[in-house]
Formats: sequence, structure tokens, C-alpha cells
Amino acid sequence: MLLIRDYLIINTKKKVAASCSNHWPVRRGGQVGKTVSSGLMVQIRAVVFDAYGTLLDVHAAMARHSGRLGSNWPQISADWRQKQLEYSWVRSLAGSGHHRDFWHLTDAALAWAAARHGVSDEAVLADVLTAYRTLDAYPEVPAVLKQLRDRGLATAILSNGEPGMLADATRSAGIDALLDHVLSVETVGVFKPDPAVYRLAEQRLGLVGGQVAFVSSNPWDAFGAHAFGFQVFWINRTGQPHEYDLHQNAAELTGLAALPDALHARGSG
Ligand code: LAC
Repeated sequence: MLLIRDYLIINTKKKVAASCSNHWPVRRGGQVGKTVSSGLMVQIRAVVFDAYGTLLDVHAAMARHSGRLGSNWPQISADWRQKQLEYSWVRSLAGSGHHRDFWHLTDAALAWAAARHGVSDEAVLADVLTAYRTLDAYPEVPAVLKQLRDRGLATAILSNGEPGMLADATRSAGIDALLDHVLSVETVGVFKPDPAVYRLAEQRLGLVGGQVAFVSSNPWDAFGAHAFGFQVFWINRTGQPHEYDLHQNAAELTGLAALPDALHARGSG
């Protein structure tokens, strides 16, 4: 692993060669090759987080009602999450006429997971769905956000979540005041990893891709953000296998607590 001024490179001979030029090539709108300004390396100015799974524990909703769901609840919760994501990708691929917001998909995916696992208690399903609006943030999240802002970095969420879900979740987790922007894909009507979503962050923040650190625990999202041109930090809390070439294209951290130092190592914050 090499540290090249403000850009961390992990095992990429090709990129090491690219770094020999005076300018780090940055991308706007997914196009490679635009340089920022003469002689200046790209500095990270903002840290943009995925919400569900990265800042918020998506399994907290079923965990709260685990006694009513039975010992298989972790599998039911995992299937719920996977189906929710599948719906987002399929509807995005099917075209804009098929878009439904993430709350609708979360509700539909819960119904599927309940049917799949034979959960028929409507009261517990209603309570689980309600709990999804107030998921727990991972314990380190407030302190990390505060530390980043204290170091002069803007903080943001860029999420598939619809605005109401995100407002409820950030408020209940006590992190709403620590975020400069909470951006929902509903503005563009398509889900991640469509480039239009990452472009939304670029536009709202007034930055180009290389100035944005994108942080996600979802490998497919980390890949999409890298493909767009963000500097990506993949949060791999549970030791998941490498995929999408993230070992080459992202910095891998085991939790968010290590993020401020990792950014600092790139000369940011
Ligand atoms: C989010 C989900 C996909 O965008 O994790 O927050």
C-alpha cells in the first residue's frame, strides 16, 4: 500500500503510474481526465455517507422485536434487506415508470420475507416496519461526524431512503444536526448505483468527484461511487470477502471509528 500525497493507493500499478503526472485526474459526471487546477492535487472537502447499513443498523428493527419473531430472526432480517435491495435494482433497470420510493420497497420486501418465513402476526410486522423508521445508528457515528466537521469537512448522507424516512432516522439517532446535507435519491427518481445519484451529491456539494470521500458498507454502492469518481472508503465490519475490485479501488476499514485518521492520512481533515 502506498500513500501518494492525498490519494491512497492500494496495490494498483496502473494508478501508481498515473500519479506521476502533476495532477490527479478527477472525474465530473463519471468522465475521467479533467484536472482541477494547475499544480494542485485534489483535496477531499466533503464526506458523503450511505445511510442504511453504514450509519444505521438495518437489523435493529427486527432485533428490537426478536422475542416475537423467534430465533431465526437474523435470517428473516437478512432476507428482508436483500429483497429490499433487489427491488431497488430491478425497478431502476426496468425504467423510470417503475420507480417506487424506498419506503414502499421496504414495506413490500418485509411482506415477502414474512411470507417466505411463515411470519403471519400482522401486529409484529407493523411494529417492525415502524421500527425501521428509527433504526439505531452505530455507536461511533455521532463522535465521528463531529470529528469530521471539527476538522473542516462537510458531512452528508446520500441514500436510497425517501426523505421522510431519512428525516425520522437522523432525528431519532441524534445525528441530524451533525449533517450538512441529507440527500435522497427521490430527487432523481432512480436508485444507486445509477450515476445520476452520485452526480446529485456532486452538484449539491458544489464539488468534483475526487473532492468527495464516499463511505459505504455496501460493496455494490462502494463500486458505484468509485465508478463515478469519488474516493471510496468501504466499511467492512464483518469481514466480507472482497468483490467488485474494491481491494484495488477503495480503502477498506473495519468500522467508522478509523475514518477520521484514514482521511487525515490523505491530507484531509
Ligand atoms: C442507502 C442504502 C441502500 O442508500 O443502504 O442508504
